[in-house]
Amino acid sequence: MLNLFILGCFLTTFAACDVKVDVHSHYLPDFYAAALRDAGHNPGPDGMPAIPAWDPETHLQFMQDLNITKSYLSISSPGVYISVPSRAATKNATRLARRVNDFASQLKAQYPSEFGFFASLPLPAIEESLQEIEYCFHELDPKPDGVVLMSNSYGMYFGDPNMDPIWEALDALNITIFEHPTGPCTEHNHLKYSNIDGETSTITPEEWRSLNRPVATRQRATPILDFPFDTARTFADLFYSEVPTRFPSLRWIIPHAGGGLLPTLDRIVTFSTLYPGFNMTMSLMMDTLSRSFYFDLAGPWPVDSSIPTLLRWVNHSNILWGSDVPFTAWAAASILAFDTGIEDVFGNSTRSQDVRSNNARRLLQ
Ligand SMILES: *[C@@H]1O[C@H](CO)[C@@H](O)[C@H](O)[C@H]1NC(C)=O
Ligand SMILES: *[C@@H]1O[C@H](CO)[C@@H](O)[C@H](O)[C@H]1NC(C)=O
Ligand SMILES: *[C@@H]1O[C@H](CO)[C@@H](O)[C@H](O)[C@H]1NC(C)=O
Ligand SMILES: *[C@@H]1O[C@H](CO)[C@@H](O)[C@H](O)[C@H]1NC(C)=O
Ligand SMILES: *[C@@H]1O[C@H](CO)[C@@H](O)[C@H](O)[C@H]1NC(C)=O
Ligand SMILES: *[C@@H]1O[C@H](CO)[C@@H](O)[C@H](O)[C@H]1NC(C)=O
Repeated sequence: MLNLFILGCFLTTFAACDVKVDVHSHYLPDFYAAALRDAGHNPGPDGMPAIPAWDPETHLQFMQDLNITKSYLSISSPGVYISVPSRAATKNATRLARRVNDFASQLKAQYPSEFGFFASLPLPAIEESLQEIEYCFHELDPKPDGVVLMSNSYGMYFGDPNMDPIWEALDALNITIFEHPTGPCTEHNHLKYSNIDGETSTITPEEWRSLNRPVATRQRATPILDFPFDTARTFADLFYSEVPTRFPSLRWIIPHAGGGLLPTLDRIVTFSTLYPGFNMTMSLMMDTLSRSFYFDLAGPWPVDSSIPTLLRWVNHSNILWGSDVPFTAWAAASILAFDTGIEDVFGNSTRSQDVRSNNARRLLQ
């Protein structure tokens, strides 16, 4: 059905053809939703009002209704490590990672042109994550198209030296990393991931969720504010730890057009001069971004006001499209708004079509 549609589309008016590739879409198989519930993520993860319903058939229907030819599925926040770190939690997370990866691989086998996926890792458990990388990229068939990493894993941000073996393994495999925001977490207390070797965790899930969140008594859903800022935080940590230059084969997808990053990126660059020898300049930042970084446009927001700011830093060839289904109830509406807004931004259908689909095809196929 989809393939016939694409063919028809190519044969008629190529330029008007608004098919999309979705790099930011989520899957929640029943066993994953049950695991979230069992681990106390109620009523939904990250203060959301519910765990969204998901099944492959509904996802395929959504794709067909909105001219999405391919979706890259990933597990959203809180990822697969869903209980506060301890040995028992690591065991569960490792098992859950394997299960969601196997599930997505089978789905990809069943729908090879419709679905790709980003593999989940049981971070902050390093050894177990290295084993899962090995399994996913050397045994699993079909393989993942990259990995999804939460912006932090119980306080382990992207610049954490403990992450180096993970970057090394992924770099050697030439992997695309899809960053996904989660709630922020401090590393400066006894509650952080270092208790991973404890028999049991030392903190309740409620205490963990309120870490580093001022106005804790009036918390709204984490995705509103904390998600975009955690993306900016882990990005800054990544650059100040020089991960992109130390591991140059890694490619990164930063969601939501950078989240809180765009208004802060000039500061990240300029303040780097406080650190002697650091040597970050706007043009070096732009070179690195254009070599290794992609930004997806999962909203919700008016694209015609956010994209021009993004274009200060990267060309349209580094911008990808994403829906964030099934987490945003307004996905369908914002997709239609996107189609209107994007033409205004580029005034050039070749470029908007690159953003909708061709850039993602180049990166991921
Ligand atoms: C899907 O593509 C067709 C053909 O280009 C177009 O007429 C239709 O409006 C599109 N639908 C959506 C929801 O984008
Ligand atoms: C691990 O999973 C088991 C079985 O689902 C559950 O009973 C247990 O509470 C979990 N432990 C932790 C620490 O998450
Ligand atoms: C790494 O992946 C990119 C993007 O998929 C591809 O263009 C490139 O050729 C790959 N490099 C190697 C050494 O495999
Ligand atoms: C900073 O980087 C530029 C460009 O790579 C290089 O020419 C310059 O020597 C570097 N300066 C320092 C202090 O490392
Ligand atoms: C965009 O591409 C042009 C031409 O290739 C280049 O001169 C410019 O520096 C690029 N801009 C960014 C932000 O990468
Ligand atoms: C859009 O711009 C590109 C390069 O900037 C150009 O090659 C192409 O012909 C333009 N497409 C349309 C439909 O105007």
